[in-house]
Amino acid sequence: MFNYGYFSFDSKADLLQKATEYWNPGKTKFWQDAGIDLVIDGREGYFLYDMSGRRLIDLHLNGGTYNFGHRNPELVATLKSALDYFDMGNHWFPSVARAAFAEKLVRTAPGMQYAIFGAGGAEAVEIALKTARYTTKRRKIVSIIKGYHGHSGLSVATGDERFSKIFLADRPEEFIQVPFNDIDALDRALRGRDVAGFIIETIPATYGFPMPAEGYLQACRDLCTRYGTLYIADEVQTGLMRTGQMWGWQTYGVQPDLFVTGKGLGGGIYPISACLVSESCGGWLHEDGAAHISTSGGSELGCVVGHQVIDMLQRPEVIANVQSVAQFFQRETARMMAQHSDIFVGVRQRGVILGLEFDHPEGAVAVSRALYEHGVWAIFSSLDKRVLQFKPGVLLDAALCQEIVDRMEAAMPRARELLRKPARAA
Ligand SMILES: Cc1ncc(COP(=O)(O)O)c(C=O)c1O
Repeated sequence: MFNYGYFSFDSKADLLQKATEYWNPGKTKFWQDAGIDLVIDGREGYFLYDMSGRRLIDLHLNGGTYNFGHRNPELVATLKSALDYFDMGNHWFPSVARAAFAEKLVRTAPGMQYAIFGAGGAEAVEIALKTARYTTKRRKIVSIIKGYHGHSGLSVATGDERFSKIFLADRPEEFIQVPFNDIDALDRALRGRDVAGFIIETIPATYGFPMPAEGYLQACRDLCTRYGTLYIADEVQTGLMRTGQMWGWQTYGVQPDLFVTGKGLGGGIYPISACLVSESCGGWLHEDGAAHISTSGGSELGCVVGHQVIDMLQRPEVIANVQSVAQFFQRETARMMAQHSDIFVGVRQRGVILGLEFDHPEGAVAVSRALYEHGVWAIFSSLDKRVLQFKPGVLLDAALCQEIVDRMEAAMPRARELLRKPARAA
């Protein structure tokens, strides 16, 4: 019997049956078929516990949502104390929590003037695309093939067909895609001077974190400037110190016109997202401040938590830890790649964002499963299944880093078996 106080289940099988019946049959079946029978139960720090009680180290972090781990005590205390005074607030009125958090965010982001809040990443992208259209009076949006910006109306139209076609939202002619790292293709897409915004993840996460070629992002920025297109950085997975600086665009020295953040902004305990815009993109906030409305966007509780998240990320010890975790995994993944070169063929890394490449079209699916069986949860990239998303949190300590590597080592024979590769000679 699993009694959660508010509800209970007879067994894990009972839960899975109800998830299939009432929640999402497709998702429930997908994971069963993949050999990942995870139902997240307890959670604490960088650990997840399956309903069976099995412990997993979380290297998925749900895309960075759990940058600070699960139920980070400082953030939980912040939310609990905020509940003594605040609630979601009323989006119509100025509020202390929203104004304070907007100022805090804007001060982290040179060149930005306003923070417009949403509840999730896709909503923040929606705000960015609408802002680009308002500002330029153009309709077209250019994005990257295999980029990912969420599943709302405008954001899903910028992404992969897999997610848009099913809802008949696949690329109306106003949405154009170009290959990543192909500056000539972007030039051709923008040169008609009819594109409102170019949206790009600073490092495309769902595509497996391919690294921007030297100078590519700046060249994109320059083309946008030349053709009057706004440069929109999607920082939902690359922001919040994951590249080693607060925002990924700062790491690459590129100045966006506007950018979006989400996921970890709410510390994994209260959903909040934001689109930050420069003064020159803030026109609609003057003309009609209610042109974008979101009852739960910028909830005051989320603002209090987000304010604390930024505060914590600015601490010197957190920034130093990001560097040491990044260095540790740079060294260890290089060593492991040399040792397992028959399957492990590449590492893509910036800060604590890593993509591990395997030599098989579904290589990361097998490695993800092998790691799961060895107590580590890291997910494959949906749009390039050769690449394992490997996302250590910013507070990981040295002992847990070492444990992750030891478990990876132990999982390699099983990964080979799943890939039907012969065992490596000792
Ligand atoms: C880069 C990026 N942008 C936007 C989104 C959409 O965020 P949400 O799922 O909160 O709407 C995601 C979600 O995974 C993402 O990875």
